[in-house]
Amino acid sequence: MSEALEAVRFEDGSLQYLDQRFLPAEIRYERARTCDEIVDAIVSLAVRGAPCIGVFAAYGIAVLRAGERDDRAFAAAAARVRSARPTAVNLAWAVDRVLAAEDMTREAIAVHEEQRSIDAAIAGNGMPLFAKGARVLTHCNTGPIATGGYGTALGVLIAAQRAGLAPHVIVDETRPLLQGARLTYLECLRAGIDATLQVDGAAAMAMARGRVDAVIVGADRIARNGDTANKIGTYGLAVLAAHHSIPLYVAAPRSTFDFTIASGAEIPIEERAASEVTSFGGRQVAPEGARVFNPAFDVTPGHLVAAFVTEYGVLRPPYAESIATLAGRPHWSAIRSVEGSRA
Ligand code: MRU
Repeated sequence: MSEALEAVRFEDGSLQYLDQRFLPAEIRYERARTCDEIVDAIVSLAVRGAPCIGVFAAYGIAVLRAGERDDRAFAAAAARVRSARPTAVNLAWAVDRVLAAEDMTREAIAVHEEQRSIDAAIAGNGMPLFAKGARVLTHCNTGPIATGGYGTALGVLIAAQRAGLAPHVIVDETRPLLQGARLTYLECLRAGIDATLQVDGAAAMAMARGRVDAVIVGADRIARNGDTANKIGTYGLAVLAAHHSIPLYVAAPRSTFDFTIASGAEIPIEERAASEVTSFGGRQVAPEGARVFNPAFDVTPGHLVAAFVTEYGVLRPPYAESIATLAGRPHWSAIRSVEGSRA
């Protein structure tokens, strides 16, 4: 079909984002100028996906700094952006990085540019995991609009499609907000990927019937032991995949690894409004006052992950060792500049 959608644009100091809530029906860009507008875009999931939230917030901090002379007011605004969503560690990582820089705008642009080259490296490292024509199940949305670059888990599959490997992507609809149905299926169409949409509850049946060769998902935060927070439903998929001896891969940049936490028990899990579950497409689907449990993410134990695909390579168990090695790797920009000087 056509090329990838662009999640975040920054031109002449103006920050614009694709409002993902309107997809797939409408491609609508909005401008974010104020702290309220930046925070609202993140909280409402107009801008979403762990790396993309980081890229957007990086620009947001630069925009706020340019418009705020008062240091205390700026610090308060930056703290609000940093904590807009709690689970994806990329958000705090990107905000801290830009805050520490002398030229915040330049740093935000660097965060965005690096995301593209990181995504490209993840795609290159992940592709060999899949045979030609592999049937690969994915959950939530991890394509270009989830990173501001080329995508992580779905980025691997888009690259596989470009390389002629013709993957078949099985798209979990991803209740309650349908990131799979609305966003992943759309990105598959735009990339020319053959895809099948299914309700989340169909995964067990699909695996039992031999329709799934592998699972690949993204991540919002990964602990030192490989425990992985990702969209609610991922843990269930991982258990199912293990039961059916199907490998489950997690594709994520180094910025999604939280080297300060030993296990997933320390990952804060965002709980969202009951209305996301009690209504559907603007229509009430549960009795008035229904009590709801609506965690946005769950934690998959590291032992259920066959491998992590990162920009630095594929990490295999034991994760305590391979993730510690990742922690010690030089910053991506340093690696890129060494490669550039060799070229
Ligand atoms: O609530 P969302 O839509 O931001 O959740 C997104 C996910 O869970 C993604 O899998 C994750 O952020 C990785 S995006 C490359």
